[in-house]
Amino acid sequence: MTEERSGALTSTSPAADEWWRNAVIYQVYPRSFADGDGDGTGDLAGVRRHLPYLRDLGVDAVWFTPWYLSPLADGGYDVQDYRTIDPAFGTLEEAEALIAEARDLGIRTIVDVVPNHVSAEHEWFRAALAAGPGSPERERFWFRDGKGPGGDEMPTRWESSFQGTTWTRTTDPDGTPGQWYLHLFTPEQPDLNWSSPDVRREHEDVLRFWFDRGAAGIRIDSAALPVKDPALPEVPEGFGPGEHPHLDRDELHDVYRGWRAVADSYAEPRVLVGEIWLPDVQRFAMYLRPDEMHTAFNFDLMTRPWDAKELRAAISATLAAHAPVGAPATWVLSNHDITRPVTRYGREDSSFDFAAKRFGTPTDLALGERRARAAALLTAALPGSLYVYQGDELGLPEVEDLPRDAIQDPMHFRSGGVDPGRDGCRVPLPWTVGGDSHGFSPDGAAPPWLPQPEGWGRWSAEAEAADPASMLSLYRAALALRRSEPGLRSADLSWVELPGASEDVIAFSRGDVVSVTNLGAGPLPLPDDADLLLASAELDDGALPSDASAWYRTTT
Ligand code: GLC
Repeated sequence: MTEERSGALTSTSPAADEWWRNAVIYQVYPRSFADGDGDGTGDLAGVRRHLPYLRDLGVDAVWFTPWYLSPLADGGYDVQDYRTIDPAFGTLEEAEALIAEARDLGIRTIVDVVPNHVSAEHEWFRAALAAGPGSPERERFWFRDGKGPGGDEMPTRWESSFQGTTWTRTTDPDGTPGQWYLHLFTPEQPDLNWSSPDVRREHEDVLRFWFDRGAAGIRIDSAALPVKDPALPEVPEGFGPGEHPHLDRDELHDVYRGWRAVADSYAEPRVLVGEIWLPDVQRFAMYLRPDEMHTAFNFDLMTRPWDAKELRAAISATLAAHAPVGAPATWVLSNHDITRPVTRYGREDSSFDFAAKRFGTPTDLALGERRARAAALLTAALPGSLYVYQGDELGLPEVEDLPRDAIQDPMHFRSGGVDPGRDGCRVPLPWTVGGDSHGFSPDGAAPPWLPQPEGWGRWSAEAEAADPASMLSLYRAALALRRSEPGLRSADLSWVELPGASEDVIAFSRGDVVSVTNLGAGPLPLPDDADLLLASAELDDGALPSDASAWYRTTT
């Protein structure tokens, strides 16, 4: 740990409190990171073993996707009990030890909170089913009688985020069809009713539970969805801001103000990071007002194709939307829901759209890897915080040929098998070149919960740590420079026009550091006085090749 890092953790200066403004946050999907106990599922013991790897990578914080007790109907986003770690992952004591050990290495912990829904196995939902219509237990959810004769029709025709319908009918104790309940995702994830004071109180308690155990912040799942219009109208055609019955309701802001007050009540204030998918950047920015969330994921850049005009537009729009509220932007190339960048950027259509996911979409992985390297430098140079999804630092491709019977993601099943789902970016990480599971589990253990493809060891941390040209070496170098270069740490962005550059070049400066990404077909000569810091591909006689990024210091 450098002096500067330890200083930043212990100092009480306002700048240290605001570590999240330019943090690098690594996302751990615990099932797939590393398996310590040999059952083929990743766990907390596995994470603890690899904390030095994360320190060496140069991350400031780790965000864990849900590690709580869960039937895993949606990879843990179906929480049965927030105060219990799922036994497959370990124990609460281990989580506490992990948070403390990470902190000793200069790494903060962010945990995931899922306010829109709980698991159908959550004690509240079981109590609601048992208590029957009109009960206070049912008030915590959205139970409604059906429409039409016999109540056979769903209360609304809202569409699920995972395709299909959003209501499931219950069966009364005497075996007759009962009320319906709402679930914007799977039937195993009943939606909570945020008008219920119990729901609000419980979530604030859950926040305190984890903040008291040292969590530095929370990532808020599906943060624009939890509040519903209690009249449950259909989604209006061409709805305006705040008019959608279950997206971006104005009442949400009050909920997050309450959470912010909880976060601010700690000596080192805790941080709220929202998962907010909203096309309207003004509405998005409203969640980042000074008394609401600190940051929210910016998915605009991630969904755009590998095209300079598109990426520049996303960067400009993002910075412009954040400026008035004083919140830092976030930069995200992927996560546990999204096709890996190496695969995405090698496709003819390199944009990302959930609805367009299909089996057998061709990709050129060598091209995708070049572009993913360039994208890594581009995003790491931008002002704000940076998210790195586990395995992207190794350049893992999406695994697109998982055996059908191995697939577990409900998105796949709810699409009738048309959508491959999200398991292709959740395949257990390779740590070593050899070994039964490339070091994911101890040798001789149960096979990994998703099979690793042939040749997975090529992308292992072991292989890449030894190769200066690897994606891992690039990430390590980039994150080290992000920390050591004052410009990259704190300077504003200014667009730069390089002589001879076409509109296919994205160039900007931060202090005396220039980041340039060449998305054009031909090489781009760099200025004579450029003092090269790092490049994603080898320069050719002082020129940056196509699909590559470079950082240099200006010396004049
Ligand atoms: C978020 C999560 C995703 C999950 C969904 C429902 O989008 O990232 O993995 O399936 O919410 O909780």
